[in-house]
Amino acid sequence: MALLKILEFPDPRLRTIAKPVTDFDAQLSRLIDDMIETLYEADGVGLAATQVDVHKRLVVIDTSEDRNDPLVFANPEITVLDGGMHEGREGCLSVPGFYEPVIRPEHILVRAQDRRGKAFELRPEGLLAVCIQHELDHLNGKLFVDYISVLKRQRIRSKLEKQHRQPA
Ligand code: NI
Repeated sequence: MALLKILEFPDPRLRTIAKPVTDFDAQLSRLIDDMIETLYEADGVGLAATQVDVHKRLVVIDTSEDRNDPLVFANPEITVLDGGMHEGREGCLSVPGFYEPVIRPEHILVRAQDRRGKAFELRPEGLLAVCIQHELDHLNGKLFVDYISVLKRQRIRSKLEKQHRQPA
């Protein structure tokens, strides 16, 4: 397995719209394993392929306490089940160090495929429901900072740009 480099805001590649996963082959499996390893190493709860500059509709998530229950979502689709909304503070491995409140639908139905291409459905709750929506946004080139005020977004942008200019 290998650690993958995570793109950071405002990298324009994060705005790419990902293409459907069509081949559920060994190469996809390797990518999934690398994404899971990268997620754990970065201490995140979710990672979209977009964030590692692979523009396929693929997400890995682990919201478990023990960090040993990774979920794989290929070609995820979300249906909002009712008008209930939930506000939660979100962060993102592509926007390191910043957390802002985002309002999202609370009750959703997710349809996706697993690493072998088998279709499944899920009615996630709590953090998992938030996380899936956040990751699906990545596949559509959207970031959580798009939901906050222009002023806050620009402040985050200039702080990260400044960090990126400094040698690591
Ligand atoms: Ni994110």
